[in-house]
Amino acid sequence: MEGEIVALIGSNGAGKSTLLMTICGNPHAKAGEILYNNRDITRLSTYEIIRSGISHAPEGRRIFPHMTVLENLQIGARDKECFNREVDRIFTLFPRLKERMHQQGGTMSGGEQQMLALARALISRPRLLLLDEPSLGLAPLLVKQIFKAIREINETEKISILLVEQNAYHALHLAHRGFVLVNGIITLTGTGEELLNNPEIRAAYLEGGR
Ligand SMILES: Nc1ncnc2c1ncn2[C@@H]1O[C@H](COP(=O)(O)OP(=O)(O)OP(=O)(O)O)[C@@H](O)[C@H]1O
Ligand SMILES: [Mg+2]
Repeated sequence: MEGEIVALIGSNGAGKSTLLMTICGNPHAKAGEILYNNRDITRLSTYEIIRSGISHAPEGRRIFPHMTVLENLQIGARDKECFNREVDRIFTLFPRLKERMHQQGGTMSGGEQQMLALARALISRPRLLLLDEPSLGLAPLLVKQIFKAIREINETEKISILLVEQNAYHALHLAHRGFVLVNGIITLTGTGEELLNNPEIRAAYLEGGR
C-alpha cells in the first residue's frame, strides 16, 4: 500500500480503532504479526513504532485543549529541530492554524481542532499516517475540506494513509483501495470504486449514509 490511501470501513464496534491502536503497539497484538516495510513491528514499543515513521491521529481528535496550537504541534514533533524544520510546511498546508497559533486548542471550532489533530500527526513527517474518523462530527463543508487536505497530503508528500471512516461514501471515493472489517475480520476488499459499486456495501454502508 505504499503511497496509497487505503480506507478501512466497518460498523460501530467492528474493531477499526482497535486495529489502528494495535499497529501503534498500544495494546500489543496477542496473536499474529504486524509487518511494516517488511519488518516485524509487532513487539516494538509505541515509541519505536512512531520512530519508524508511523503516525496516528486517534478518534475524537484528542488535542490538548489547554495548550495553544503551537504547543500542540510541538508535542507532535519529535524534537525541537523537527519542529523548527517542519512548522512552516504545516502552516502552508493549514493556513487557519497559522492565524490561530496562539489560541488554546480547546477554544477552536470542531473543524479547526480536527485540522490541528491532523497537523500534529503530520509534523513528525510520517511515511504512514493512521487516521481514525477524521470527519466525525463535522458539517459537510468541513468534511470536504478535511478530505481535500488528506488527498493533498497523499499526493504532494506521498505519505501512505490508512483511513478509518464511518463516512464510507467519501472514504471510498478518496481511497485507492478499501477493506471492510466485520467483527475484527476483513470480509471484503477491492478498489475504492469496486466497493462503491458493490451492492452489499451499498446496502450496508452507503444507502442514506451520505
Ligand atoms: N479496552 C477495551 N476493553 C474492552 N473492550 C474493548 C476495549 N477496546 C475496545 N473494546 C471493544 O472492542 C470492540 C471494537 O472496538 P473499536 O473501538 O475498535 O470499534 P470501532 O470499529 O472503532 O467502532 P466505532 O466505529 O464505533 O469507532 C468494541 O466492541 C469495543 O467495545
Ligand atoms: Mg472507532
